[in-house]
This record gives sequence, structure tokens and C-alpha cells, in this order.
Amino acid sequence: MHDKKLVLRLLCFLKPHKVKIGIAISCMIMVSAMGSAQAYMIKPLLDEIFVKKDRWMLDIIPFVLILVFVLKGVFNYFANSLLDILGQGIISDLRKNIFAHIHSLPISFFHNTPTGELISRVISDSMLIQMAVSRALAGVFKDLFQVFGLVCVVMYLNWKLAIIALVFLPLAFIPVSHFARKFRKLSTTNQQTVAQVSNILHETITGHKIVKAFGMEQYEINRFSETVDKLFGIIKKDIKNNSLQGPIMELMGGLGITAIIWYGGHQVITGQSTPGVFFAFLTSIIMIYNPIKGISNINSAIQQGLAAATRIFTLLDTKSTIQDKPGAILLPPFKKHIEFKNVSFSYDGNTDILKDINLNVRYGEMLALVGTSGGGKTTLVNLIPRFFEVTKGSIQIDGHDLRDVTMKSLRDQLAIVSQQTILFNDTVKNNIAYGDLNRSDEEIIAAAKAAHAYDFIKELPDGFDTIVGESGARLSGGQQQRLSIARALLKNAPILILDEATSALDTESEREVQKALENLMQNRTTFVIAHRLSTVRNADRIVVIQEGRIVEEGRHDQLLASEGAYTTLHNMQFDQPRSVGDNSL
Ligand SMILES: Nc1ncnc2c1ncn2[C@@H]1O[C@H](COP(=O)(O)OP(=O)(O)O)[C@@H](O)[C@H]1O
Ligand SMILES: [Mg+2]
Repeated sequence: MHDKKLVLRLLCFLKPHKVKIGIAISCMIMVSAMGSAQAYMIKPLLDEIFVKKDRWMLDIIPFVLILVFVLKGVFNYFANSLLDILGQGIISDLRKNIFAHIHSLPISFFHNTPTGELISRVISDSMLIQMAVSRALAGVFKDLFQVFGLVCVVMYLNWKLAIIALVFLPLAFIPVSHFARKFRKLSTTNQQTVAQVSNILHETITGHKIVKAFGMEQYEINRFSETVDKLFGIIKKDIKNNSLQGPIMELMGGLGITAIIWYGGHQVITGQSTPGVFFAFLTSIIMIYNPIKGISNINSAIQQGLAAATRIFTLLDTKSTIQDKPGAILLPPFKKHIEFKNVSFSYDGNTDILKDINLNVRYGEMLALVGTSGGGKTTLVNLIPRFFEVTKGSIQIDGHDLRDVTMKSLRDQLAIVSQQTILFNDTVKNNIAYGDLNRSDEEIIAAAKAAHAYDFIKELPDGFDTIVGESGARLSGGQQQRLSIARALLKNAPILILDEATSALDTESEREVQKALENLMQNRTTFVIAHRLSTVRNADRIVVIQEGRIVEEGRHDQLLASEGAYTTLHNMQFDQPRSVGDNSL
């Protein structure tokens, strides 16, 4: 994106804060004016009080001085606090925007984007933008105005001397710009290394079990140490540069000041100038140093901010490929049937994972999907909530194409329980009520009972108020699954999708979960994907999917009698002793 466009777009984020910005800018200008006044005051102070020994002035000047200091303090307070509050406001706006946008994106986006990257957009990139905005505003309206004010003061005091000083000023700029360039280069590598550090952190902390199980602690520690050392190396260079910058600039300043003392002193001695003028002049020149340093940092802050803005806007511009179309209607309550009509689907646009699926599921039917792993069962059920969009053909509920109804009205009628339970680090109660936090305690308890979860919840230290840990880590697999079932029961949606809900469980907890599932399936239209054929024996219809096609369908005994693909699957499972963790069917 072009820098100019980028800046214009950033300005849109500043618009809601224009009043605050206006006040902050006025305050900053006043701070600069008061700073210049402070420097100028040295002249009457010395000349009137110390040289002329004017008593009246002795009474007046301290008053004026106090006034200038008080005013500068007040304006400084408002300028700084407004600027900081403004910056934090921008961060909050950006974070809310990015978060909302991330959650509007389809599932395929998350399959292609590392989590760490999204987190860094929300956390650190928004901060870089804030720093750029604050620095740019303060740099222009405080530092630049201060330099301008002080230059005016020195010109007014003694223009000949001013010209000499202003010749030295650009010289002082040379090291500043040299270091700024070095700093910018370092800061890019710095950013990349910080991202590496957070990636390793994210991977190894979420994967801590595997790290332990494979004894890779030392390997990970070494990998982390190397990256941290690399970061340390970069920061060391940065520190050296920074520390060199001060002395070099001071030396340049010293040379300038020596020249001023020599020439200015000469003028005072010959009576062309007064000590007051001389010291006011010197003070102004010394005071110019800090704002110049501030201005020199503007560019690097802005460059970093623009780079961050590019990353954030690229994310914000990622269009959701699955959206409600204009004029989408509300899906009426499901009554008759769900139809797959010549449905094909491809993840990458090349290979069809589902091929020409035709399926008509009646209201209240229990439909089982079976077949070898990788056949496309999960893909097929993921099309119903529109997690992915069909590539060809259509899916209709009661004659309404899914693409013609709003996503919300569609998903309101669906409940999903999958092999991978998703629990949040919250209380048992809130995890069950997720989706509708206003449900009464009685309803939640009833759902827990029907999900065969009530007994173990009662045993937990705080019952329904127990925090379950990240991803439900403090519960067993079977317990987590029963909470997911309770959640689905409470949602009470007419269409239910069970994707290997019991696959990850041992036989003991499978039995409990199976009972819970039977309660859940009552009076619902259910799609069940099961790897253990025993659990779908009494389904109304069993559909065998292989390599993306429906190869057989019928009731259990019909399919066995026809001795086709289902029989092969069945024999594979019942001829061999079932091994623990076998999820292949
Ligand atoms: N997000 C994805 N992107 C690309 N290919 C995928 C994705 N998810 C699954 N697949 C592929 O689609 C095929 C069907 O997968 P899936 O529907 O999960 O099978 P099943 O549930 O029957 O085991 C597999 O070959 C798998 O590699
Ligand atoms: Mg699957």
C-alpha cells in the first residue's frame, strides 16, 4: 500500500478523537512558547537585576518567572496526558476492530494463518501505531515548535551570533541522522527476532505435553536460548550506538558553545552586547538540543508505525469469503428435510474431496456416516454450518439454499459435538451455557443431568462454579465430552452433528458418553460420524463414504446382506481385537 494512502487511512482512526487532538496540539504549542519565554527571561534577569541592580525589576521578574513555570507545567500536564490517553484510545479501537474482524473470517483462514501472527497483530502492531502517532504529533507540535521558538529568540537576541550558532546546528544533526539510520535497520531485525521468540513460546507452551513426552526439553531450551541470544546481540548493538550518540552530540555541542563563548564574550567585552543577551542566548542554544533529538526519532517511529499499519490493514482487508448475501432471509424452523444436491467440494480448487454427493435426510432421521479415515466425512458435515462453502451443487434445508439464509439463523438450528472438545477457561456453568449465558440454573442442571455430567460436577471442588482450566485441562476426556454434550443439549437445536464424539475416549467413559448422546439425539435430526460401527448399528440409515463418494447406503442388516464396502469395514473391525486408540475407522 502507498504511504500516502496508508496515512490517510490511519487518519480515519484519529477522526473520532479530533477534539482531544486539537486541545493537545494547542497545549503543546503553549509549552513550546513558555519554553522559549524561559530562555528569553535570562536576559532581563541578568541585565536588569544583576548588572543594573534595578530593585523594581527584582520584585517583578520572579513573579513573571513563577507564572511562566506554572503555565508551562499546566500546559505540559494537559498535552502529555491527552496525548497518552489518545494513544491508548487508538490502541483500544484498533484492537477491537482487529478482533471483530478476525472472528468474521472463515475457518479456512485460520488453517492458513499461524495463531502467533494474529496475536502479534492485536498486541504489538497496534502499539507500534500508537507510538508512531504520539511521536509524530509530539515531534511536530512540541519539538518542532520549540526549535522554531528558540531560533526566533536567538535571532532576536543577537542575529550575528545566531548565524554562527545555526551553522553549527546542522553539524550536530549529522551524527543524529547517522544513528537514526543504523537504529532503523536494527529495529527491523529486532522485530523479526521478537516474533521468533514469541513463536517458540507459543508452540512449546501449547505443546508442552509433547515436549515432555518426547524428552525434547533440552532441545527446546537450546532453541529458545539461541533466539534470545540473537535478540540480546541486536539489543547490545543498539545500546552501543545509543550510548555513543550522546557523547558525540555533546562534543559537537561543546564545540559550538565554545565558539559562541569566544565570539559572544568578545562582543560583551567590547560593549556590543550585554551579559544578559549572552546568557539568554547560550541557554536557548542548550535548550534546542532535546527537541532536536526528539525530531530525529520521529522518522524511525513513523517507519515502524507504517510497517505495522500495513500488516494490520492487510489483515483488515482480508475479505471473508463466506458472508451473508444481501437480502439473506431468516431460515424458518427446520421441519422437513436437508438435501445435498450434486454437492462437490474442494479445499484447494484442484482436487475434489467430495464428489457429486446426493443425500436427502428427513426430519427426525438418524443418519450415520462411516468409512475409512480421510474419506471426507468431516468435510461433508462441515458444509452444513457453512464452515466451508460448497464448490458445486447446493445444500438446502426445507428448500432454502444455505447461501440464501443468514449464517446466524442457520447456525442457531445446529448443535455440534466433535472429537475435539472446545472448553474455555471458565466455570463449568458458563461452559455449559456458552451461547446463551442467560439460561437459568435449573435449565443448566437439567442439561448436566441429561448429559450424565451432574454426578461428577457435584464432586468438583466448587461444583458448577469450578474453573475447568485451559481447554478443560482439569477434567478427564470423558468429562470434557459430557460438558460439550450438556452445552449442545441446552442449545436444544433441531439438527445435531456428532463427529466422532466418542473416538478419543476409553471404553468406560465411552459408555457414559454414549448414554448422554442418546439423550441428546432424541427428537432431533442427527448426523453421526462414528468410527466404531457398534455405535451406529441402530441408525435409521448408514451411508458409507469412500474417497469423497457415497458408495453404499441402507440399514445395518441390509448393508451386511449386500456384502459390499460396509461388510468389509465391519469385518475389519470385528475380526481383529480392538486396539486402544484405534481411530482408523
Ligand atoms: N483444511 C483442509 N485443507 C485441505 N485439505 C483438507 C483439510 N481438511 C481435510 N482435508 C483433506 O480432505 C480429505 C478428507 O478429510 P476429512 O473430511 O477430515 O475425512 P474424514 O473425516 O472422513 O476422516 C483428507 O484427504 C484431508 O487430507
Ligand atoms: Mg473426520
